[in-house]
Amino acid sequence: MNTQITWYGHATLGINTFGYKLIIDPYFTGNPSSPIKADQVQADYLLITHGHGDHVGDSIAIAQRTNAEVISNAEIVNWISKQGVKKTHGQHLGGGFKYPFGYLKLTLALHGSALPDGSNGGNPAGFLLTTNDQKKIYLAGDTGLFGDMKLIGEEGIDLAVIPIGDNYTMGPEDALRAVKLIQPKHVIPIHFNTWDLISQDGPAWASRVEEETESQVHILKPGESYKL
Ligand code: NI
Ligand code: MN
Repeated sequence: MNTQITWYGHATLGINTFGYKLIIDPYFTGNPSSPIKADQVQADYLLITHGHGDHVGDSIAIAQRTNAEVISNAEIVNWISKQGVKKTHGQHLGGGFKYPFGYLKLTLALHGSALPDGSNGGNPAGFLLTTNDQKKIYLAGDTGLFGDMKLIGEEGIDLAVIPIGDNYTMGPEDALRAVKLIQPKHVIPIHFNTWDLISQDGPAWASRVEEETESQVHILKPGESYKL
């Protein structure tokens, strides 16, 4: 049990791996599902999938308070640096880098990425994290279904974290097809039940996935963790 994932509601996740604390898409202020406030967050690294406000969230304030390093695509990292954040690392789609917490590769995502002030946030991304004990975690980010999820699945995914909310991202039907392409051992659905517009029946989706695939679904409540 070297890696633990916590869902803070919406698309905000904490990953604690071998003592390194990562926050993915640190949206706490204004996130109606978050059980904690931005100023309570501890982090060594902040990973941002794309430029939308519900993903960039409190990144700047948390980075300045905790001195966490911000990791995202080059456009978002440049924008974050201009807001006064000192420690950043820009990557881009298809590129990986070995950090102390593991090897992190940026994957494709089908979505937008404009930053909160309208600046160009480049292309949206997902993350493929290989932990220091060789576990593979695919964080799809905000995305529609795309066939190359099969290529990502070919790496052998232990855990996939995918959106199911519909409207802005894949809905339950396409998310089920995504699981069939990725074939992960475990799945955690996110980006749903934050607002009425993306309200979904998590347990019903979990039953369908487990009937039609070999994957095991874990429905977390905001604040709950899953140990990998
Ligand atoms: Ni988005
Ligand atoms: Mn979003």
